[in-house]
Formats: sequence, structure tokens, C-alpha cells
Amino acid sequence: MQNSVKGMFGSLPTLSSLLKRDTVNMEAKVVKAIRERGVGNILKALESSLKGLGEATIDVLSGLSVGRHVMIMGPVGVGKTTLAEEIANILALDDPPYIEVACHSHMTATELTGDIDIAVALQAGLDHPLAYIPGPLVLSHGRLLIMDEINRLNPYSQASLLQALQEHYVFIRGFRIRSDFLMIATSNPAEYSGVYELSEALADRMKVVEIHYPDRELLKAILEWKANLTLSHIGVKVPSMLTDVLTNFVTLISQDGMIEVSPSIRASIYALANTMARAWIERREPTLGDLKREVIANMAHVIRGNFSSETEKRDYLTRKFDEAVVISNRLNRR
Ligand SMILES: Nc1ncnc2c1ncn2[C@@H]1O[C@H](COP(=O)(O)OP(=O)(O)OP(=O)(O)O)[C@@H](O)[C@H]1O
Ligand SMILES: [Mg+2]
Repeated sequence: MQNSVKGMFGSLPTLSSLLKRDTVNMEAKVVKAIRERGVGNILKALESSLKGLGEATIDVLSGLSVGRHVMIMGPVGVGKTTLAEEIANILALDDPPYIEVACHSHMTATELTGDIDIAVALQAGLDHPLAYIPGPLVLSHGRLLIMDEINRLNPYSQASLLQALQEHYVFIRGFRIRSDFLMIATSNPAEYSGVYELSEALADRMKVVEIHYPDRELLKAILEWKANLTLSHIGVKVPSMLTDVLTNFVTLISQDGMIEVSPSIRASIYALANTMARAWIERREPTLGDLKREVIANMAHVIRGNFSSETEKRDYLTRKFDEAVVISNRLNRR
């Protein structure tokens, strides 16, 4: 990616070259990439970083191949951003294959479109490469645009994105720059904090692909794989008993109706990895007590539900952890 980014910025486009850009048929580009790589190979390539998201991938690809923007929606840490980036990397529609925006509530419309620097324009002319530095909506012409956590975008930025999506032009102080891109957005469901409601017009232009929390078996396989991967440079392996208890613990919580936000896969991977790293530093074997300590310390601020105090939340986690140990013992005795 390094070289290509250099390539893109090494010769910054001038405003007049941007004004002459040709139309790109994005859906044809996507279909060509799928044909050339083959769906089987795309899914296989994806399995090297994500497990169990084959169906979601096909949903994303089918949307893109008819020119529809896609929004991957799901709870915290289920692989939304990784899925968007991996699909973009595997399709490799251009070089670089995608432009990514980490959306936030204070983002301005000009951060998305880029703006003319009046001082440079007055001194060196509008066509000086530094008179206009293109924003992501302009740079994504011919590529995928990843709008990560799109529901953090405030209504003003949503409006400028919508204009680019529906008109395929980005307007900069009256200049009209062609921009053809397909967007993969990610978002958390509306009940999460710090999010804006997406405007109806914007939501209507995206196909929604939902990712759910993995079931017990899949979760265990992911935790085993990723925790050991995280520890590979230390050279220790997580005992399967620890993964088993953590999987039961997370599954118990995610199935509990009173919990609004369950522990994420990311937090679970690190709970296992931290437990192992600590035991390794202290030159001893890890225990269930170590895992319990990690889990309660790290997950108390992640989960959300109807708790009246922090103590109540910690007591809840302690109870669920003990229950998970009992379940693991029972299952292992069978
Ligand atoms: N299905 C999966 N297979 C393998 N790893 C996964 C899976 N889902 C999540 N992970 C792991 O969890 C981590 C978090 O993934 P990612 O950041 O893509 O999730 P996200 O849904 O975008 O999270 P957030 O809601 O916090 O933005 C990744 O590093 C990945 O290793
Ligand atoms: Mg994410």
C-alpha cells in the first residue's frame, strides 16, 4: 500500500484534471473482479482472517455487484470493520483498493469533500496541486469507500455524503468533480451510545447486511484461534479449559435478555491473551482465578444492562463466571 499511496499523492491531481474525470462503471468493475477471482477463492481468502462470515460476505458482494452501497450492521467487535477491509483488499478494484474514513460526530462536510485553499489559489492559481487537496469522497473515484461507523456522522456530513451518492458528483465551491465509488459502511445498531440516526434518504441508499454474535461453537473456535495467534510471539498456548469457560461465560451473558451490550470478541480474545501473558511473566501456569480477574476487570466497563451500580455489575459478572465454570465441568465430564 505504501507505494501506491505515494503514487496517488506523489503527483497530486490538479483541479482541472479532476474536473475532466471519466465516469467509472463500478458494478462492472466488481463483477469483473468476482469473475476473475472466483467466489470460492474470495471466501477462502477471507477465512484467513475471519471465521463464519461467508454468508455475510456473499450478501455484501451481491449488493456491490448491482451497484448498491452496503451497510454492515452489528454489535461491538463482531468483525464489521475487518470484513469491510478484507472484502475491499480481496476485490482489489484499484490501487489502493479502498479509501477509509473513521467517522466521528464532529466531522465536517469539507473533511469529506476537501476544500480549496484560497491563499494558495490566489498566489499560485487554482490549478496549483496544493490549491485543492481532494477529500475521501473525491479520492474514492473508481474504488471502494469504507465509511467506518457511519452512524457517528452528524447530519451535515451525512448530507454531503448523500449528495455524492445520489449525484455521483462532489461539489467544491461550485466546481463539480465526478466521483464514482461504491461504499461499504459499518454501523452499530441504534441503541448504542454516541450515534446519530441515519437520515432516511441515506439509509434508503444502502443494503443492510447484519452480522450477529457468533454461536457457542463458532465463538470457541474464534477465541482459540485468535488468542493463540496473539500469543504466538511469546510461544505459549491457551489451555482449552480456559477457552471453554470463557466461551460459556460470554454465551451466557449474550443470551441474557437483561444485557444490552455483551462482551465483545475483541475483549474476549484479550482476556485470554492477558491471562496467559501474566502467567508467563510470573513463570507459572495460568489458573481459572487469573481468567476471572481479567474478565471482571476488563469486561465490567464493556457490558451494558440494567445495573444500579458498578458493584452490582461486578457481582453479576462473578456469578456468571462461576456458572460458566460449572457448565464447563459438566460438559467435560460427559
Ligand atoms: N468472525 C470472526 N472471526 C475471526 N476473528 C474475529 C471475528 N469477529 C471478530 N474477530 C476479531 O475481533 C476483532 C474485532 O474485529 P473488528 O474490529 O472488525 O470488529 P467491529 O465489529 O468492527 O468492532 P467495533 O464495533 O468495535 O468497531 C478483530 O481483530 C478480529 O480479530
Ligand atoms: Mg469497527
